[in-house]
Formats: sequence, structure tokens, C-alpha cells
Amino acid sequence: MTTTISAQSLLTRELLARRRPGYSLEAPFYLSDTILQADLEHIFGKHWIFVAVEPQVPEAGDYITVDFGKHSILIVRDDDMQVKAFHNVCRHRGSRLCASQKGSVGNIVCPYHQWTYDLTGKLIHAKHMGDDFDPTGLGLKPVHIRSLAGLLFICLADNPPEDFEQMAAEMTPYLMPHRLMDCKVATQVDIVEDCNWKLTMENNRECYHCVGNHPELTVSLYEYGFGYQPDAQNAAGLKRFEDILASNHARWESMGLPSAEIDTLDDRVTGFRTQRLPLDRAGQSQTLNAEVASKKLLANFVDPALGGLSFWTQPNSWHHFMSDHIVSFTVLPISATKTLVRTTWCVHKDAVEGVDYTLDNLTAVWNATNAQDRRLVEESQIGIATGAYEPGPYSPFTEGLVEKFCNWYVNRLSALTKTA
Ligand code: FES
Ligand SMILES: [Fe+2]
Repeated sequence: MTTTISAQSLLTRELLARRRPGYSLEAPFYLSDTILQADLEHIFGKHWIFVAVEPQVPEAGDYITVDFGKHSILIVRDDDMQVKAFHNVCRHRGSRLCASQKGSVGNIVCPYHQWTYDLTGKLIHAKHMGDDFDPTGLGLKPVHIRSLAGLLFICLADNPPEDFEQMAAEMTPYLMPHRLMDCKVATQVDIVEDCNWKLTMENNRECYHCVGNHPELTVSLYEYGFGYQPDAQNAAGLKRFEDILASNHARWESMGLPSAEIDTLDDRVTGFRTQRLPLDRAGQSQTLNAEVASKKLLANFVDPALGGLSFWTQPNSWHHFMSDHIVSFTVLPISATKTLVRTTWCVHKDAVEGVDYTLDNLTAVWNATNAQDRRLVEESQIGIATGAYEPGPYSPFTEGLVEKFCNWYVNRLSALTKTA
């Protein structure tokens, strides 16, 4: 075991040390099982990972399970309506407790010998264990969990990064007006991409590829919102976009909706970025006609044209908050070359399917975009695996956030493997 860890550290450290800024990562970062183990141990094991939204567990006893790497995590709402997280592993002989992805329980009962835990994780029943049996200390192993305005983040480390609090303080005013806690999950779609998780994330951090690949998404997204090289041809369009941006920001701020960009993607342990951007055409929502998908607006909104508040977190999520719905994405590694992308669409809890919204209309843009992105990242994975790949240069105009993702990743892994 010691030899394995040491070999892992050596290879990983060597690759990290020779990373060339401004260029994509070397092939082993996308192919190697050793690097994946380092990613799971240090990136997914020691940072705040976005895993779910509170509306997935609306009632006491509702649970979900979230699996990544070797981990299975049980997230449950207890009788005091607090959301708790545990390792989904029985304290008797280690059976997985809940095999389903979601459900509802009174207590958590192990299917093997029926050891029974309450919703706070306490062992409350274990038959045939004798009169001297002491259940104290045999409660479910807790996992740190925090809700940021309804977005659930877990951390597997004993001592999670403390700067989550800073992110929460800065982001709460942006997110809270949309009242995710008063939403329901309209639908959730899982896709498995045949690529390394970092390719999925890097692809998310640029829109260089959007015009050429995402006809549905670019109905509502302004081309200029995600980086551009200014030139004579786009000067007029750019000026128009900047005017729209300035007037919308002033309008949103006056409505109590913070809109200014915050970017801490590569200078904090819990790195994130946010910005509220106007949407094109009807300006309301990420739909095929840029009009709201749900007639029942979120919170107490009356104006549907609130643009899109985006929130990106390191290492594994992004979210778009609009006036009528919220769409969240979580990225979880399955293996070095397989990645789960889980997309969750939330609408107001009183919105009625078929009356206020249809699932087809609500999900059309991101189902199409996810399928297009899946092809893009899988083609990247194939190209990188050929052996002809070598790191290529990022665009200084459109790939700055990809560079920040890689900076964060390389810096965090370097810092943590130094001490491993
Ligand atoms: S392994 Fe869970 S009760 Fe035995
Ligand atoms: Fe994309």
C-alpha cells in the first residue's frame, strides 16, 4: 500500500511540476488510473463537492444516495428537517445500506441483519447482540454537508476547507432571491460520458465551442457573454451587448438582485465564479424561444426577464438560476475515462406539469446541449488517447476560465500531494 501511494505521488508530482501554463494538460491527466486515484483522494476527497439540491429530499425521511469513485453517500432529511449526510455503510459488517438512488424511510434499516439507525444516524436497534451490547459509537459515519441557498455540498475530509463560509456569505444574496428551497425537482437526467471528468469540466468553462455546436443554447445566450476577441467586425455588436449588460445590471440591482461578477476560481480553495448575464431575444430563460418554460415564476418574481444568474464551482458543478427555473449540473468521476453528468431541473413547487410547464420544453435546451457536449468531450478523449496528442494553447480571449480550472486543479493537487 505504501509503495502504491508513493508511486502515485511521484508520478503525479512529476506531471504537476512540469505543467505548462496557458496550455491544456498532458495526456496522463485524462487517461491514467493513478491520476484518477489522486483526483479522488485529494480533489474529490478534500474539497466541497456539489452533489444535490434540497428539493431532492423535501420531506423528513426522504433520502438520496450519491456514488462517486469508491464512495457511496447517503443524504437524508431528518425529523427536524435538517439535511444530514452519512457514509452509506452499515456499522455491523459493512453492507451498503440503501441501494436505491432515492426513497423515503422512517428509519434506516440495513437489509443484511436489520441493524436500524434513526435519521440522525444513531443506531437504535440491533437484535441478538446480547444484553451487554453498547450501540454507542456505532452510529453511521457522518459526512460534512452544507446547504448554500438549497444547493447541497458535501466534504469527505475530517477538516473541510473553511472558506466555504466565505463563498456562502458572498453567494447567498445572489442565490437566495430565487428560493430554491421553495422549488420541486421537475426532472433529473443522468448521462455517462466516456471521458475523464476534467474534460467535462474544461468544456463547461468555455463557450468557444458554443456557436459551432449548440444551436439550441445560443438562442438565448449572447455570444459576447463568455469571451471574445474584439475586432472591427464585432465592434458594433459588442457595444450593443455592453449597453444591454449595463442597463440590465442597473435594473436588476434596483430589484435587489446582485448581478456583478465575482471570480475566485483559482485563488481560493473553495473556488467559484458567479455573474448574472442578460439573455437574448425574449431574455427570460434558457429555452428554445428564450421565453419562460414555467408560467409559475420562482419566489415572488413578477418580471420574467431576469436573465441568467450563473454559478460555477470548483471542482464539479455549474448552475443557471432564471426567473422560472433553476438548472444544476454535477460532475462525478466513475473511472479515469467515465464520468457521470447529472442535470437537475427545478421549478416552483406549486407549478403544475402540463399546465404551467411541460418537461419537453423545460429540458429541450440542456438535453440537446448535453448531448452535443457529450460528443465533443468524447471526441477529445479519443484524440487524447491516440498518443499523437500534446498539450495545445488556450485562447487568451475565450479560454481564460479553462486555464483557471487547470490552475486551481494543478495548485490544489500540488499542495495536497506535497504532504501526502
Ligand atoms: S451488515 Fe448491516 S446489519 Fe449486518
Ligand atoms: Fe457546451
